[in-house]
Amino acid sequence: MSGVAVIGAGYVGLTTATCLAHLGHTVICADIDEKKVDALNKGEVPIHETRLPELLRDGLSQQTLKFVVGARQAVTDSEFVFLCLPTPQSDDGRADISAISQVIEEIREIIPAGSTIVNKSTTPVGTNAAIQSLVRRGDVAVVSNPEFLREGVAVTDFLQPDRIVIGSTDPEAAQKVSGLYNAVDAPIITVDPLSAETIKYATNSFLATKVSFVNALAAVCEAVGADIESVIRGLGADQRIGSRFLQPGPGWGGSCFPKDMQALVRMADDAGYQFDLLRAVIEANEQQFARVVSKVERLVGDKLGGAKISLLGLTFKAHTDDLRNSPALEVAKLLSSEGARLIAYDPMVESNSGLPTEIELAQNIEQALTGSDAVVILTEWPEFTRANWGALRDFMNAPRVLDARNALDRRAMLDLGFQYDDLGRI
Ligand code: UGA
Repeated sequence: MSGVAVIGAGYVGLTTATCLAHLGHTVICADIDEKKVDALNKGEVPIHETRLPELLRDGLSQQTLKFVVGARQAVTDSEFVFLCLPTPQSDDGRADISAISQVIEEIREIIPAGSTIVNKSTTPVGTNAAIQSLVRRGDVAVVSNPEFLREGVAVTDFLQPDRIVIGSTDPEAAQKVSGLYNAVDAPIITVDPLSAETIKYATNSFLATKVSFVNALAAVCEAVGADIESVIRGLGADQRIGSRFLQPGPGWGGSCFPKDMQALVRMADDAGYQFDLLRAVIEANEQQFARVVSKVERLVGDKLGGAKISLLGLTFKAHTDDLRNSPALEVAKLLSSEGARLIAYDPMVESNSGLPTEIELAQNIEQALTGSDAVVILTEWPEFTRANWGALRDFMNAPRVLDARNALDRRAMLDLGFQYDDLGRI
């Protein structure tokens, strides 16, 4: 028995499998999607993730990494079985762990004695113990090892993490799992499984709270005449606070924050604690979408009915191709319900699939801005900041920009004659 099985080749599974192979382990990664498995075995990566294609091809050529269809194919000779499976939000806000239960049922009888199941999926507190009871095997350990991988920089986050969290009631299993990360220079925090699972939700919730806080602070800056960038400089210099994750924007989104926030509120509720603070953060995020729309309204100086509004950026942040729970799409929905006509450009979005029908897709910035009554910058792609705005102005019906990422140079835009608004800058 040797090697690592990774079940699931989504963002987390693919990064985990590829990086563990890069660290010197022999890895078999399983997915149920045959086409995806074929493509991956040919070195084709289906997602936009920096460095992942190179590392994946290294692993394939050194034969330390391969992809197979179905979990059973991956686990028969594995010392470690990593679960990297989707845990979508169900209707009641709780995370749905049925993909995990199904996989455990499939593999429980064939995993080797002495192996360790490592859960990397974001799962409700208590899932580690639930997996242990589903496995019904005294000779197989279950360890929680949450991921802290940001899309777009997931490889760097895996190989140079701030910390590695391991949750286990079995010190020997915890030791074995931490051994997999010997080549990574990061503190290992070993705790009980319930705490490890809570750390994951606490981290995402705290980060989302930080973003909502700075978005609210930008509104305060506007109201009192202060400058958010100066405020962030002073605020972030306090080491108890830190300067990261203090960039104002149209709200937080993505496949993790929204679902994890709801799940934590729900879990706390179930356990008898009303997490009103988090409820307020979720509400503040929804208000942020509406705030962006009211800023567009103010900029256009009229009702939005019939106005042609250009959107730059559709993904939930720059450097990803992921549209899931994108604040840009929330803003688009609201603009459209006010009667605006929408045309959008995003360097990573090539087709309309996954987009609401009310958004017309442009192939470049110029096309998106032609005849436009106002442009809204919704993600911080360098292509938007580097653009020649002096030349772009001439494509527009009226030179109006709402910079919902504070990405452009405010002074330069005003000098170019734009009617320009952003979030809390002076
Ligand atoms: C997030 C966490 O950062 C990862 O640590 C975690 O592993 C991952 O979720 C997960 O649970 O799988 P990700 O979803 O890739 O990663 O997105 P972030 O980079 O954290 O950004 C989340 C949202 O906050 C985005 O909409 C982003 O635009 C927004 N944001 C972030 C801001 O508006 N301002 C900031 O300063 C930072």
